[in-house]
Amino acid sequence: MLSENTIRVIKSTVPVLEVHGEAITSHFYKTMFAHHPELLNIFNHANQKQGRQQAALANMVYAAALHIDNLAAVLPAVRQVAHKHRSLGIAPEQYEIVGTYLLKAIKDVLGDAATEEIIAAWADAYNVIAGVFIGLEKDLYTASENQNGGWEGFRSFQVARKVKESDLITSFYLMPTDGNPIATYQPGQYISLRMKPEGNAYAQIRQYSLSEAPGKPYYRISVKRESARMERPDGVISTYLHGHITEGDLVELSAPAGDFTLNTEDSRDVVLLSGGVGLTPMISMLNTLVDSKVQRSVTFVHAALNGEVHAFRDHVKTLAEQHENIQAFYCYTQPTPDDREQSRFHREGYIDAAWLSQMIHEPLESDYYLTGSVSFMQSMYAALSEIGVSPENIHYEFFGPKTNLIPA
Ligand code: HEM
Repeated sequence: MLSENTIRVIKSTVPVLEVHGEAITSHFYKTMFAHHPELLNIFNHANQKQGRQQAALANMVYAAALHIDNLAAVLPAVRQVAHKHRSLGIAPEQYEIVGTYLLKAIKDVLGDAATEEIIAAWADAYNVIAGVFIGLEKDLYTASENQNGGWEGFRSFQVARKVKESDLITSFYLMPTDGNPIATYQPGQYISLRMKPEGNAYAQIRQYSLSEAPGKPYYRISVKRESARMERPDGVISTYLHGHITEGDLVELSAPAGDFTLNTEDSRDVVLLSGGVGLTPMISMLNTLVDSKVQRSVTFVHAALNGEVHAFRDHVKTLAEQHENIQAFYCYTQPTPDDREQSRFHREGYIDAAWLSQMIHEPLESDYYLTGSVSFMQSMYAALSEIGVSPENIHYEFFGPKTNLIPA
């Protein structure tokens, strides 16, 4: 346990470190990678370039430090990260490396202001926080490896089918090359895919939601081709998957992970609300609800630019036609003339609270699942709050490093 004095020092220095937070974590990554270049095989280089990972790590260390005497307060956020770490294969000894370079960065950036007492207090605090992560991750590793069909680390899979779902999204059906069973998963979970595109010095890992219901002999992921936009370059892995990977090629996967999952015990109405490629876990949830033959009322709402980039439209439409308890609505911000002619969408423009509450049978009695870009999620969260939906009925997941949805 930490002494009262250590807790006092930590709490009094959190605001100072927050001010320098991103400078400290950028410096930390630079020195850590210089001494441990092997870690470049696990960190997402695109997130590094955009500074997103720096912010995520800094925010979590400070949030945990602020609640150092009551870590239960940040446990849900820690659990989510622990799932990601497990999926990436992060090992306990790597926490020592991160701790060493984080403390060094605090010293280097704060200079004389970082007294010995402050550094010692942060070393203690980091060890406590790392201990919580390592403990949670150990349980997740054990559970995943002991599961029927589960495995440790990365396993070789072959692309059995590659199917274009829209102009931007393509599905990959992945089967293990060893021919053994694969672990089941909960709808909403993801896998980590590792590959080293030709010409790249380091391997790269990306997380992709599973887009099919569990219980199949394959995993399916549906990947959006991330083209360059403004200062952001092409997505290295997504463009490689789309452009180079074909049926028969091999990729490596770690076992399914993630704590954003459909509550299958619940009998309340379900609303699946997605924007863009955020629809992939929603398709898994929808297919699972269909496979399990439950009679819960399901409302599937999807926002896309237009029909050309809208994946799984026919699939969802067919399910809605075949099942009385399923209804689907599509909102396009820039419908094409074809979309209009063929009445492919239900609303033009953005989704708002008034429209949403008309589409949903029991808005205040439903369970909501949201996925999409940060701005989409923020506006959906605001719309649901306006309708009066209580926060515990709203479940969400961001793609990429977590950002807080609820305004401070
Ligand atoms: C992801 C925090 C230790 C490697 C993350 C994220 C956070 C975080 C907040 C973002 C999760 C998300 O995507 O939502 C922490 C904290 C640590 C710690 C507070 C220490 C107490 C480590 C260690 C390693 C590591 C020891 C391995 C050397 C990674 C990687 C990612 C990640 C590779 C994904 C990054 C990406 O894809 O850009 N971590 N982490 N972390 N962490 Fe950690």
